[in-house]
Amino acid sequence: MIAAVQHFRHSVNNMTQELLFSGVKPTNNLHIGNYIGALKQWTEIQHRYRCFFCIVDLHAITVPQAPKKLHESTLTVAATYLAVGIDPNRCRIFIQSEVPQHTELGWILGTMTKMAELERMTQFKDKSKKRGEPVGAGLFTYPLLMAADILLYDTTVVPVGDDQVQHLELTRMLARRFNTQFGETFTVPQTLIQKVGARIMALNNPTIKMSKSASSTANYIALTDEPNVIRKKIMRAMTDSGNEIHYDIEKYPAISNLLTIFHHATGRTIKDIEKEFAGKGYGDLKKALAEAVITMLEPIQKRIHYYLDDTGELMRILNRGRDEAIGLAETKMKTVLERTGLGRQSN
Ligand code: AMP
Ligand code: TRP
Repeated sequence: MIAAVQHFRHSVNNMTQELLFSGVKPTNNLHIGNYIGALKQWTEIQHRYRCFFCIVDLHAITVPQAPKKLHESTLTVAATYLAVGIDPNRCRIFIQSEVPQHTELGWILGTMTKMAELERMTQFKDKSKKRGEPVGAGLFTYPLLMAADILLYDTTVVPVGDDQVQHLELTRMLARRFNTQFGETFTVPQTLIQKVGARIMALNNPTIKMSKSASSTANYIALTDEPNVIRKKIMRAMTDSGNEIHYDIEKYPAISNLLTIFHHATGRTIKDIEKEFAGKGYGDLKKALAEAVITMLEPIQKRIHYYLDDTGELMRILNRGRDEAIGLAETKMKTVLERTGLGRQSN
């Protein structure tokens, strides 16, 4: 699957033309997997593009959410974007449900998509299996809304973790299909995935992804976890049988995951970390890793509190993001309605 990904070639010449779009669902707490696999990457590339970072609350309600908690999580995710270093002067941050064109375009794309094309989505298959109860239609049509998010803005690049690659392929296919049927309307976006750390695994089970919807909090380290909680979770993290501190995903999946996290927390190469811990025990590695993660998260936690303690600045940033997004989305939807024959013909 990954081999099929179009890796974006950074082109300096038409830098100002390029639009980057990405989003995170405001469900539960964001964790270090979200940070390493998504947010950190955004901060590193934000200077190369015109950036739109969305809090995708309409995607969050594909599984039931408590209303008050959803409002809170939405603001916490917005604060987290800023806390990790997204620059509000360069980038726009907005809430998906405040731009109604996302659902509008999502519907239209659904009329052009085959059931089988959605049934093939592994995320849908996994999620519907996991819940073990009748699955909502929203979970099924989820990728159409995601495609709408991206296509509304003539997005050229979408940074995501590798679990989203299949959704991006569907988005690209729908853009081409629409363009073929109705004339050039949408830009076909490129997927940008990060190689090391594209998938951080659960601390308590290195064969599954770290996930905020996990049944146990031992699965993940939330960006807002206190230092003592972080120490406890890392010291209890699953290890491999043996005592080798060596990066090898097949043979030592648990230790490889810890080394990956270590690499991202410190910026040190995995080889360098392996060398430091050669001949030492798993306990030594874990102790050092816990401190590295605490150090990485401390400034982020401080800034999350800063934005949430007095939300005035956050509100201004979200208003500005919403207004700019609506401006672009309205223009694009006018073209879409005209081309598809919806409503009254203009002129
Ligand atoms: P989600 O938590 O599913 O809303 O995902 C938000 C973003 O974080 C997406 O770009 C995901 O691909 C990324 N992401 C989620 N979980 C992980 C993980 N365990 N490792 C790496 N990236 C992740
Ligand atoms: N589906 C993505 C996820 O679960 C979140 C998302 C929604 C997204 N719309 C998007 C990501 C548009 C990138 C672009 O992680």
